[in-house]
Formats: sequence, structure tokens, C-alpha cells
Amino acid sequence: MTQETDSSNSIIRQLPPEISNKIAAGEVIQRPSSVVKELLDNSIDAGADHIKIVIQNAGRTLIQVVDNGSGIGKEDIRLCFEQHATSKIQDMDDLFRVRTLGFRGEAMASIASVAQVTLKTKRHEDDMGYKYEIWGGEEKSFEPAAVEAGTSVAVRNLFFNVRARRQFLKTDATEFRHILKTVQQAALANPDIGFELIADTDTIYDLPKEQSMKERISGMFGKSYKASLIKFREETSYLTVHGILADPKLTKRSRGEQFIFVNGRPIQHRWLTHTILSIYDTWTGEKDYPFYAIFLEVDPKQVDVNVHPAKEEVKFEDERSMIKLTKSVVKKALNEQFLVPDVTDREQKDDSSSPRGFSSNFNFGGRKNTGSKQKQDNPVKFPSRINFDRPEKSSKKRGQNDFSKQLYDFDDQSEEQGAESGQDAGQSDRPQRMRDRGFWQLHDCYILTQTRSGLCMIDQHAAHKRIVYEKALSATEAAIPSTQQLLFAQTVEFSASEFSLLEELHPIIQRMGFNVQLMSGNTAMVSGVPADIDVGDEQSVLKSMLHQYKELDGKFDFDERRKLAIAFASKTAIQKGKKLTDLEMENLLDQLFACEEPYKDPLNKPTIEYIPLEDIEARFR
Ligand SMILES: Nc1ncnc2c1ncn2[C@@H]1O[C@H](COP(=O)(O)OP(=O)(O)O)[C@@H](O)[C@H]1O
Ligand SMILES: [Mg+2]
Repeated sequence: MTQETDSSNSIIRQLPPEISNKIAAGEVIQRPSSVVKELLDNSIDAGADHIKIVIQNAGRTLIQVVDNGSGIGKEDIRLCFEQHATSKIQDMDDLFRVRTLGFRGEAMASIASVAQVTLKTKRHEDDMGYKYEIWGGEEKSFEPAAVEAGTSVAVRNLFFNVRARRQFLKTDATEFRHILKTVQQAALANPDIGFELIADTDTIYDLPKEQSMKERISGMFGKSYKASLIKFREETSYLTVHGILADPKLTKRSRGEQFIFVNGRPIQHRWLTHTILSIYDTWTGEKDYPFYAIFLEVDPKQVDVNVHPAKEEVKFEDERSMIKLTKSVVKKALNEQFLVPDVTDREQKDDSSSPRGFSSNFNFGGRKNTGSKQKQDNPVKFPSRINFDRPEKSSKKRGQNDFSKQLYDFDDQSEEQGAESGQDAGQSDRPQRMRDRGFWQLHDCYILTQTRSGLCMIDQHAAHKRIVYEKALSATEAAIPSTQQLLFAQTVEFSASEFSLLEELHPIIQRMGFNVQLMSGNTAMVSGVPADIDVGDEQSVLKSMLHQYKELDGKFDFDERRKLAIAFASKTAIQKGKKLTDLEMENLLDQLFACEEPYKDPLNKPTIEYIPLEDIEARFR
């Protein structure tokens, strides 16, 4: 056969055995949707810009794919159905280079061996087309026919000759769901191609070619998606990640609208899927599934697509980096769009004209452990009581001011003018202007703020616990503990059990910024505390921290450092019932969103709840 195919008109070659062996052999056709997938791949590879899919009885009786692609020349028609015949790979290097969808050269042969296939095809440059019939691998007819340019493959009575397979099929509903997903994948990966899906007598999709990604998605999943879709894109030397996420509120009870593609090929990737869903958990709860389409572009050499017979799973050379990058990109996109009231820029302006007496409620201001210059210049800070540096992430957000503008729709121009027009004006205007930005405190417990698509509620205590916790944790990792020395060292008496715990935890406590000297008789001398603890409080903070620690100890399996940081945060975080100024609220949110895990307190309780506008509207219906 190989010699025959070398005639100049033929573009299909049989793969040499070393390549065909290299390609994991396997059952390509497992169910009707596998046929749909292979036929769509071929139509896409053939450069079609319109593809029509006709399904009858969930694919049991008919699967037909009609494209306006290149068509197949007469010499190649029979060859299409030979095992390992493909026009897409010529040698080993191609195997790695190829970015087309299917390249095993076994799909058509496999399909033809288990169904009754009618192929009609005509190349655009030819006058005449052909009709070719093959049933269960046996040629039935091959004749010239007047057909449109392109290719139509009709697959009838799938598994007619493999009874076991036929019985293995699930209900029509299930099989159709697989087909639908397959079509959705192809349509998402190719918004430039028009797709038509007809099932029995219904037109399910009629998607025009050259759609934008957003049009394509709302065309398939409903108009309600369109307004809330967020695009994202991040490029690194190793990997490009881009895609579209839906508002977390548009979740469904069942899986099915999650899509991952690698180099345009739909794939399954458990680890990545799990990672993405866990980001959404914050909003959706674990029972709901959000829509997303994530496209990964990598050098084909970095992925092995042939680990799975139906090419659905891929293995990345560096899975960990891929996951890490994708996670951070998705997280950032979601945060920006739906929750993060980014106030970093404004905070800086506010600091330059801090109202007098503002900080009187709190014990902050010019502490010594401020590592960053910016911080030293600004006496007013959120009362974190533990005055570690702000996580560096917040500085990254500075470039995202655009987003905060969208979020609040406030007029940045007038803000700036206000802030620059002298201290006094700044002071008197501030409360009014701050309120205009949309921060409210509810019952001195919750901060309310609007996001573009709803209302965001923050539990001030939980939120601050998260902030203090992360700062305390990172303090224990810092080389030099940041301590505020007390003017007069204090001797504190402990119970025997408290003291033995204190002894045990002493190294960590020191690193958190306490300066504690253990003495005889269950006493300790405290000569320094973490910056921003109220002076006079050190005894109670230390004791209740130990107490809290013991409680956590019984319940949680965290390491000591973590438990201690939680204990410290619980004690020192601002409590419910504390009145906060607008600036304090703003700073609290700013610091919260600079945290690693802004959405949960250290014990995984939510810090933020989000009510979509629709839900509010629904209440007034
Ligand atoms: N819709 C189509 N339009 C043009 N050529 C096609 C089409 N379907 C199949 N072919 C040709 O048939 C060959 C075999 O297809 P297939 O068995 O799916 O193998 P592969 O896609 O891996 O090459 C393809 O390489 C291609 O040349
Ligand atoms: Mg193929």
C-alpha cells in the first residue's frame, strides 16, 4: 500500500510502524460522541469554516458531519479508511510538531469498522465529487457524484456489528449529553468556525462563523452569561494561559460547563479542574459548578498528548508550574472582577492628608519595625495592632486602578483634585466623599460595599483575623522579629500548665515579636511585644493566646506555628462591635485583599459574602 500512496496526487501516507506503535493504540470509538469528536476534528483540520452536525436518536442511528473544508481527492478516499493512514504526519518529528487535532490516522478506519459509513466529498478544485460507502470495514460502493465542495460523513447504525458495544451505551439522554459537550468543546475552541447542531428535528445550535468568544459562549449557554464573562490572559516563556470565566453566581448544580484546552485541543485534567473549582468554592459552595473555558498554549514538546487513546488527557512536562500559573491567573481575574474593591491607590492619597486625631482610637503610628519606606512616611495605618509590613502583593495591585474605577464608577479626577487641594479641604470633605465610594458599616460588625455585580459583605472580625494571622505567620519566618520594646519590662505570673506551654512554644512566641524571658516560679519577664499591641495588654494577650492555643490544640491538626498565629489573631483582631471609620474600613479591605487567602478566616470560615444583584432584585419581585 505504501508504494501506491506515493503517487503525486495523494497526500495521505501510511505511517511507518515505529510511529504507529508510538501512538498509543486503543479504542478510539467508545460511544457516539467519540465519532462526533473525530469527525469534527477532521473537518476542522480540513480548514472548514462551517460545520453542520446532524444527530438522530442520540447518535445511535445517525451521526452526520458536513463541512465545507478541503474535500478529499479521489486517490485518497479509500486510503482514508486504512489503519494508520493520515495526511498529517510524515515522520517522528511531525508527531511532536503537529498541532492539528487528530493525527493517528485511525479514526476513519475505526469508525468504518463499526458502522455503516457514507462519505461524500469534493475538493474545491475538482469538477466532480465522489460518494463512497463502507459498512463494517467492507467497501459497498464508490462512484462519482454531484456533491458540494467539502466533505460529508454520515455514520449510520453505530456498533451494528458489535452487539456488546451497543448494549454498553447509556440512555439517549446521557449519550446526547456527551455529544453536546463534544460540540461545545469544538465550538469554543473554534469561535471563527460556524457550527450547526441538529438533533432529530430540533436545531440546537446555529452559531455563525467569526464570533467573538463572548458571543460564542452566550450563543451556546444563554444570554445571561454575556454580561458577566471575564476574559483573562497571561503569558510566560513556558506557557500562555487565557480564557473566559463566568460570574460565580452563574453556577449549575451539575458539572458540564467546564472546559480546558491545550493548544486548541479539549482535554481533561483532574488536578487542574480540582484547582479551579476550589477557587470558585468561595462563592459557589462545593456543590455548584461554574462555567469556565481555559486555554493553555505550550510548546507541543512540553506536553504528551498521546497518553490517552482518545487524546483526552495530556501530561505536561512541568505540571506543577502549569497549575500554579493557571491558578494565580484565574484567581486574579475573579478577584478583580467580582470582589476586590481595590483601594490601594486611594489609600496613598488619603494618607498624605490624614485627618487630625484620626488615629486616636488606635494604637498605631510611627512604629519602628516598618520595613518599607512608604510605610514610615505614613503615620496612619489600619489598626492591625501588629504592624508588620503589608504583604508585597498589594503593591502589584497598584497597576489595577482601572479596575477599581470600573468597580465603583467613581470619578477619580475629582478625587485627586480633592486630595491635592490642601489639608483642610481634604479633611472636611473626606467623610462625605468616602461614603460616596460606598463603604458602610452595619451594626459595627460588617462592612458593606458594592461590587460591579452585587453587594459584598465583610465580617470585620473574621477579615482582620485573616490579616493578622497571615502577618503573624510571616513574622515567624522573618529573620529578625519585629518587636516593640516596652519602657518597663513586666513580670507576668502564669499557672503551672500555662507556664509549661509557654516554655514549649517559647521559640515561636519570640519569633512572633514577643520578648519573653522565662524565670523560675512560673513567672516570665516580658520586655517586648509585637509592634502595635496595646501597651498594658501584653499580659492578657499572652495568656489568652496560650489559652486559645490549648483549645485549638485539641481540635485541629495544624502545626504549632499556625495554631499560635491563629490564637494571636483571634485575640488581637478588631472585634465585632468596634466602630470603624471609612478610612479604616478601606484599609481593612485593602489589607484583606492583599492576603493569600482573603476569603476565609484562619479557620476557614468566610470573611466575605457576596450577594448578586439578581438575588436582590428577586426579593423585590
Ligand atoms: N472532513 C474531512 N475533510 C478532508 N479530509 C478528511 C476529512 N476527514 C478525513 N480526512 C482525510 O482522511 C485522513 C484520515 O482521517 P483520520 O482517520 O481521522 O486520521 P487523522 O485525522 O488522524 O489523519 C485524514 O488525514 C484526512 O486526510
Ligand atoms: Mg482524524
